[in-house]
Amino acid sequence: MKNISNKKATDKLIFALDVKNYEEALSWVELLSGHVGMFKVGKELFTAAGPKIIQSIKERSEKVFLDLKFHDIPVTVAGAAEAAVRLNVDMFNVHATGGYQMIKEAVSAAWSCSDKMGQTRPLLLAVTVLTSLNNDDLKEIGFQKSTEELILHLAGLAKAAGASGVVASAQDIKMLRENFGKQFVILTPGIRSDAMAKKDDQKRTLSAYEAVKKGADYIVVGRPIRMAIKPLEACRQIVREIADGLAAK
Ligand code: C5P
Repeated sequence: MKNISNKKATDKLIFALDVKNYEEALSWVELLSGHVGMFKVGKELFTAAGPKIIQSIKERSEKVFLDLKFHDIPVTVAGAAEAAVRLNVDMFNVHATGGYQMIKEAVSAAWSCSDKMGQTRPLLLAVTVLTSLNNDDLKEIGFQKSTEELILHLAGLAKAAGASGVVASAQDIKMLRENFGKQFVILTPGIRSDAMAKKDDQKRTLSAYEAVKKGADYIVVGRPIRMAIKPLEACRQIVREIADGLAAK
């Protein structure tokens, strides 16, 4: 069995700060600093608290994933990507359905801005198909391809446009790894322990152990930590599962 360091496992865990305001977010950051690899700031928190929450997380030497899933005309998304780099986020994302040109311009704007500022380039991920959509929903929107075909198509488009990787459900990890190789970053939400499965709205779930074993580079976890009676203990348990998953790969 491989010996996996606690840091290596911790770095893979991203905690979703799905809370309503700055104060609540900061109290989670204070509790979990050093116990997770990154904090995810999504649409709810960013709309409520703005860049201030990102600055506060970065001041504590913690990493930030800005999950705003940009989708607009290329010049607008390029501007947003540059603004994300100015906030010194470590990871951010766009919708792959914005198209090749949009992703390419976002990548180019982000890389040149971070190079100019002397910062490490952030990871730029593309969302292929939201895990809340199934084949019927895709047909309703007007897509002809099945979910699987569309995920592969959009991931290929994102890779060709220079994206670092994709956000993908646990069940797509294997297919994406086989098609796009080891360097393509895969981030997986919808993580549940067997005990928690089927108790909320996440449908295509997998344990942290299985997701990492299948090849996820990062996992995003929200409620399994936030709703736990002892959040820090739940967090440590997930890090142990990640370490076991890495060792079993
Ligand atoms: O609470 P839970 O662990 O389900 O949180 C998962 C996080 O990942 C949420 O912030 C959610 O918005 C995000 N996410 C997801 N499915 C996607 C993309 C993002 O659950 N396809």
